[in-house]
Amino acid sequence: MSSTVRHRPPRAASLAARLGQSRVATRIEGEVRVTAADLVDRVAEAKLKVAAVRYKVEGEVRNTAEKLKSRVSEAKAKLGDEARFIKSWIDDPRRTGSVTPSSPALARRMASFVDPAQPGPVIEIGPGTGPVTEALIERGIDESRLILVEYSPEFCELLSKRFPRATIVQGDAYALSTTLAGHLGEKAIALVSSLPLFNRPPATRSALAREAFPLLVEGAPFIQFTYSVISPIPRKGSGLKAFVSDWVLRNIPPARVWVYRQIR
Ligand SMILES: C[S@@+](CC[C@H](N)C(=O)[O-])C[C@H]1O[C@@H](n2cnc3c(N)ncnc32)[C@H](O)[C@@H]1O
Repeated sequence: MSSTVRHRPPRAASLAARLGQSRVATRIEGEVRVTAADLVDRVAEAKLKVAAVRYKVEGEVRNTAEKLKSRVSEAKAKLGDEARFIKSWIDDPRRTGSVTPSSPALARRMASFVDPAQPGPVIEIGPGTGPVTEALIERGIDESRLILVEYSPEFCELLSKRFPRATIVQGDAYALSTTLAGHLGEKAIALVSSLPLFNRPPATRSALAREAFPLLVEGAPFIQFTYSVISPIPRKGSGLKAFVSDWVLRNIPPARVWVYRQIR
């Protein structure tokens, strides 16, 4: 007779094995849970980093686009000014005196001789499209202190749009006291001129200086640029002392700035 012998593990060993298995399972389960939570945290962290990078990149793209836009509109305005100048020069070459507006470098050099801390108005004659006006404002002269005398009605219209708080007077700078009658409440601290003086005879240039200085406070500068090598205001017998700058090469053509003051 055959008999089947069943081999069962002893009861105590089976429990231990089961107990051992469940401990391992619990440990593995625990570790899996920790790893999963860690993964969730890392994914969330990665998402945050991606969002931050996207935000930064989007910001930079937006900034670059804004900068490009403003450069394009600056370039358009510059081209517009060049075109206006050429038109004005074709209409009246003697009066316009140049086919292109002054460069920012020349405009800044002219403005550098005006002391923004000294209170009072500043007269600019022959502002054209306003490069020197801009440099004066950049130097710290509030727009409302500027009295701009320009002959061309087209340039005056443009100037009043560009510098709405400045006083714009359409008229002849060679008849300065008449042109400025009623516009100048007090004496000016400086006069800045871009008039093409060499298109006028020496006597007219001397008369301009003689007419200008009584409108200025004592010691105030009369600032004039020129492409010429000689003084645009005749100096002999003028009662003026003069200083001349070095050549501003970043202008076409290169120019120098003369600063005249009355000898006290
Ligand atoms: C050489 S452009 C200078 C323009 C501008 N300031 C610049 O630097 O580009 C001379 C300017 O003087 C103006 N102008 C010429 N004769 C004038 C006069 N008698 N009275 C007022 N403005 C005059 C012209 O219309 C022109 O705008």
